[in-house]
Amino acid sequence: MSTEALPLKVSGLSARYGVVPALNEVSITVGSGEIVTLIGANGAGKSTLIKTICGLVRPSAGSVHLFGENVTGMSPDRLVRKGLSVVPEGRRLFGEMTMLENLELGSFARNDTAAVKRDLDRVISLFPELRDRLATQASTFSGGQQQMIAVARALMSAPRILLLDEPTIGLAPAIVDRIAEMIKTVAETGVNILLVEQNAETALAIADRAYILEGGAITAEDSASVLAQSPEVQRAYLGI
Ligand SMILES: Nc1ncnc2c1ncn2[C@@H]1O[C@H](COP(=O)(O)OP(=O)(O)OP(=O)(O)O)[C@@H](O)[C@H]1O
Ligand SMILES: [Mg+2]
Repeated sequence: MSTEALPLKVSGLSARYGVVPALNEVSITVGSGEIVTLIGANGAGKSTLIKTICGLVRPSAGSVHLFGENVTGMSPDRLVRKGLSVVPEGRRLFGEMTMLENLELGSFARNDTAAVKRDLDRVISLFPELRDRLATQASTFSGGQQQMIAVARALMSAPRILLLDEPTIGLAPAIVDRIAEMIKTVAETGVNILLVEQNAETALAIADRAYILEGGAITAEDSASVLAQSPEVQRAYLGI
C-alpha cells in the first residue's frame, strides 16, 4: 500500500495549551479498511489528538495527511468536506432537537439532497432500535441510544474516515457490546476508523491495530491481538 493512499497519516504531531505540552511528536496511521485504536488513561492527550487532527487545536509541530493530502491546520468544516467525521467526547447532541434534526445537522456540508435522503435511510437501518423514534427529542434517549445517534449523525456527512472519542464511556456492559458491534458494522461499510478509548478491553477486541498514548506520547504500537497479550498493557489497561 502506498503512503499516499493512507486514509490517515499523523506525523510528529505536537500540541500545547499555552505553555503546557499536551502532545509530543505523535505519529500514527490508519490504513485502508482498518479499525485502529488508541488507548490512553485520563489526561493522556486522546481528545487533544482528535481535536488537533480535526482542526480544533492548532499543532505546534508535525503534520496530518488525509488520503495523501496535507490537511494540517485545516478548519473542521473543510475537513468534513474531505471525508473526515468525528464523534466527539460526550456525544454533544442537541438535546432540545429531535433525533431526525440531529441527524440532518450531520449532513450540513452536503448539497446532494437525493444522496442525503438515501444515507438517512441507510444510517437508520444500522440502528433498527431507533427507527421509529425519529421525532423524539434527543435528550430523552438513554446514554447508549444517544451514543448511537451521535455515531449516526457523524455518518450523515458520508465520511471516508471516522474518529470516535471514547464512545463507550459510562455505558453498561451490554450497551458497550452493542456500540462495539455497531462500530464494526460501520467499518464493514468501508469507513476507516480511529477509535480512541480508555476501555482497552472493548477497543482491543474490535481493532486491527493499536497504539498506547501516555503523557502525550506514543509508548507502544502493535496489532491489537499482540498488545492485548502484552504484560504491561494487561497490568495498566486490562486490570489483569
Ligand atoms: N483546553 C485546555 N486547556 C488547558 N489544558 C488542557 C485543555 N484541554 C486539555 N488540557 C490538558 O491537556 C492534557 C490532555 O488532555 P486531553 O483532554 O487531551 O486528555 P484525554 O486523554 O482526552 O483525557 P480524558 O480521558 O479525561 O478524556 C491534560 O493534562 C489536560 O488537563
Ligand atoms: Mg478525552
